[in-house]
Amino acid sequence: MRKPMMAGNWKMNMNYHEAVVLTQELCNRVKRKDLDKVDVVICPPAISLRGALTVLDFDKTKISVGAQNVHWEDHGAFTGEISVPMLTDIGVEYCIVGHSERREMFAETDETVNLKVKALLDGKVKPIVCVGESLSIRDEGSAVSYVCAQVNAALAGLDDIDMANVTIAYEPIWAIGTGRTALPEQAQEICAAIRGQLRTMFGDEVADSTRILYGGSMKPANVEGLMAMEDIDGGLIGGASLISNDFKELIEVAAR
Ligand code: 13P
Repeated sequence: MRKPMMAGNWKMNMNYHEAVVLTQELCNRVKRKDLDKVDVVICPPAISLRGALTVLDFDKTKISVGAQNVHWEDHGAFTGEISVPMLTDIGVEYCIVGHSERREMFAETDETVNLKVKALLDGKVKPIVCVGESLSIRDEGSAVSYVCAQVNAALAGLDDIDMANVTIAYEPIWAIGTGRTALPEQAQEICAAIRGQLRTMFGDEVADSTRILYGGSMKPANVEGLMAMEDIDGGLIGGASLISNDFKELIEVAAR
């Protein structure tokens, strides 16, 4: 009932020319029939968003493009920021919000995540909202309550219609870029709790139709176990999304 999604978060990797080459490689390698079964998104650095879109448009490849961050105001004196209307103007469809790297290093808070989610929905860009606990929170035994509180704050004030365009990504911080993936059962436990939180906030229909992705060292060697879990509907992939063959393999597994 939920169409899987595989989203590549390129982070601060790939210059413009490398981004164009990687996008073209994906056009050549990803099977067209898989793109009917899986929503595939690539999130290059802002400077390469339009370049990636041009390659995909020219190649008529059904891969969508997402930004990695956005400001909640439409325009103004916010040096270094980009806005939702700027994203829609060039054809960007998705935007990652609240990635742990932005929360940790760029002072993103639950409140600013919520402002960004609302601005994106107002502007018709689909947010991919990231949540996830640190190792110390996991060790304390409070991962479920911490992550559910993040979901609650990020989605405050939204309604059922908004939720049709929202994807959640559960990314345990201790599994990001560490090679240490959450066990499928560990990821499933939190993703099920997130779905329970959506049920409390929005009811059954939204809870059953919202996609929840797992992120954190997802790669060809572990994707099958993760995708076999009931509440995991895809991946938000960092390192492996920079290698076209690996990303293609992840998409193939999601398409099965
Ligand atoms: P890695 O796949 O490199 O662990 O990164 C995960 C991530 O943070 C995606 O947003």
